[in-house]
Amino acid sequence: MRFQRFLLAGMLTTVLPLCAQNVTAAKPPMGWNSWNHFAGKVTDADVRGAADSLVSTGMRDAGYIYVNIDDTWQGKRDANGVIHSNEKFPNMKALADYVHSKGLKLGIYSSPGPQTCARYEGSEGHEAQDAKTYAEWGIDFLKYDMCSFGPEKEKYQAEHPNDPDAGKNFMIAAYKKMGDALKATGRPIVYSLCQYGVDDVWKWGPSVGASMWRTTDDITDDYGRMALIGFSQDGLARFAGPGHWNDPDMLEVGNGKMTSEEYRMHMTLWSMLASPLLAGNDLTKMSDVDKSILMNKDVIAIDQDALGKGATRLYPSGDFDVWSRPLTGGRVAVAIFNRAWGERHIPFNPADAGFKTGATIRDVWHGQDLGRKNGKFFSTVPKHGVALLILSK
Ligand code: GLA
Repeated sequence: MRFQRFLLAGMLTTVLPLCAQNVTAAKPPMGWNSWNHFAGKVTDADVRGAADSLVSTGMRDAGYIYVNIDDTWQGKRDANGVIHSNEKFPNMKALADYVHSKGLKLGIYSSPGPQTCARYEGSEGHEAQDAKTYAEWGIDFLKYDMCSFGPEKEKYQAEHPNDPDAGKNFMIAAYKKMGDALKATGRPIVYSLCQYGVDDVWKWGPSVGASMWRTTDDITDDYGRMALIGFSQDGLARFAGPGHWNDPDMLEVGNGKMTSEEYRMHMTLWSMLASPLLAGNDLTKMSDVDKSILMNKDVIAIDQDALGKGATRLYPSGDFDVWSRPLTGGRVAVAIFNRAWGERHIPFNPADAGFKTGATIRDVWHGQDLGRKNGKFFSTVPKHGVALLILSK
């Protein structure tokens, strides 16, 4: 009896702190999402193809485990209000079983408004019912996209002119409604807020049960857009951590409109920011370079570092931009980004990252140990490229 009590106490001390935080996303979620490549055309076959490729390319084993269906899977509600998938997704439960059989997890998408961004059925007024349906299907991740709720929020604000926070609180309540509904299912479901960072979502995201929240408007497969979004994230790191993450949107690596250096910058910046890593390309057609970028183990390890502390900017932006983040074991990751239109030789001093007596340095993308550096040294960084370094004592 005494032993059992001891065992129970032991279990409780392990489990309780885990329950206190959102254990569905103790580290930034990694996986794939259909939108950036397939957009409204995505089908059951595409999702199965993505799941197969996650396994065959080694991405699953590198950590990419969520297979997320974005907008346009929804069909009609039946007489009882239960949502059904449309003809592109004949059997959601069977799809979830297939994805799970590969050691992967399935994600889905909805909206707190009456319609999604692509004008499919949203969850307004059906939150508990939809959460239950998702749990019955075996869904593990929900992206909840504001879209048609935006005008409702504005209308509500206009009706309450004396309360400047009325619209914001109305929106928070709508996100909490689904957060509570997901929790009530008893199934661990990663809750991903998509409302583009309005009303400082990073300050209230955890209170509605969110595991992650978009901090910006949509990314596109364009260097300027990627850089604008990524480099605008300075100052947000302190709001994120184990269980709840800033999300500067999904990856575009492999979609074809940036150079390899630019995709390396994209992957580096997102990993430095401790962002969720959701690949957005066609996984069935990946070049070796795309694979080497998405699956670099050391870069992924930076993203997934157990401290969960995202990067901050060390130097003001300009032609080059230097960011750093603390890692476990007293190490520090430093990314030296070249935003200029040509190759640059960029100086860096380990003292600027707190290593006053020098540091032992590893160049991550080149997989090279650079030895000890005390004082200023230069990295040669190609146009729109990056030198990613790990500093240790
Ligand atoms: C919004 C989101 C995108 C995607 C589309 C789908 O634009 O930000 O990521 O989900 O809606 O319609």
